Amino acid sequence: MSNALKEYLVSSQERVEKALEARLPSNTILPKRLHEAMRYSTLDGGKRMRPMLAYAAGQALGIAPEVLDGPACAVEMIHVYSLIHDDLPAMDDDDLRRGKATSHVAYDEATAILAGDALQALAFQTLAQDPTMTASAEARMQMVIALAKASGSQGMVGGQAIDLESVGKKLTLPELENMHIHKTGALIRVSLQLAALSKPDLDPQLGAKLDHYAKCIGLSFQVKDDILDEESDTATLGKTQGKDQDNDKPTYPALLGLSGAKEKALNLHEQAVISLEDFGPEADLLRDLSLYIIQRDH
Ligand code: IPE
Ligand code: IPE
Ligand code: MG
Ligand code: MG
Ligand code: MG
Repeated sequence: MSNALKEYLVSSQERVEKALEARLPSNTILPKRLHEAMRYSTLDGGKRMRPMLAYAAGQALGIAPEVLDGPACAVEMIHVYSLIHDDLPAMDDDDLRRGKATSHVAYDEATAILAGDALQALAFQTLAQDPTMTASAEARMQMVIALAKASGSQGMVGGQAIDLESVGKKLTLPELENMHIHKTGALIRVSLQLAALSKPDLDPQLGAKLDHYAKCIGLSFQVKDDILDEESDTATLGKTQGKDQDNDKPTYPALLGLSGAKEKALNLHEQAVISLEDFGPEADLLRDLSLYIIQRDH
């Protein structure tokens, strides 16, 4: 990893941590246990890839990070809600997340469900009324629509439904790709769309190129997640290694083998970089992040 990327990762992680802290209800406000659970899962953990991608898209488009804190937090809140629910006994039944006990283990199932629900609501409230955003009412409406589509039954939640229906089945490659595009790709893609929607005079052609980049890395992100589940270890991952095989989930390594899955990830990275050919050095961070996504160890 380049030094520039390392610095960027650390500084944007700090930025989003502060921004989330400022937007989450304090655990001194009633209902305290619910607010504590929301803070427990959201703060101090995770790679913050989605916020980082929103800020990096901002850099490529000439948008200041200050006006992207709201969208960055909104997408991370949806992501954290999706993780809390993904880990529930009714879904993947995991007890470790981001190096600590999952929400339903640290609290209880009902609290975990409600913490996820409340984070989802807070995400949309943030887009609608965050005072640090400069987007017009119309642009905020577009953001709310984009995040709702990416999160809902034709986005992340739809992908999760396909994932659960597919347990024990051997999917075809297009079916597997469809599942991954929805369960993970949609939220990654919208992270960049929210940044693009913050620029009123965006050239639509440039916007389309950026969106193509976002689609490629959205898929490569889950391909790599599947690879890591197979070849990393629990301490590095901060979540239990080998769960996909235990739960009989269809994954890229299961279908293509580890080397086939790695080839697929590399191919998607190359496509992502090609999508950015109309951008200059202002998009270098996006190029580096695409490589990081397929090279990361957790
Ligand atoms: C894990 O996402 C779940 C997927 C959608 C693949 P991340 O790998 O981004 O998890 P954190 O946010 O870093 O914990
Ligand atoms: C989850 O995919 C995608 C979500 C929408 C949360 P996984 O079930 O593979 O995510 P991990 O491996 O538990 O983080
Ligand atoms: Mg899952
Ligand atoms: Mg899971
Ligand atoms: Mg996984």
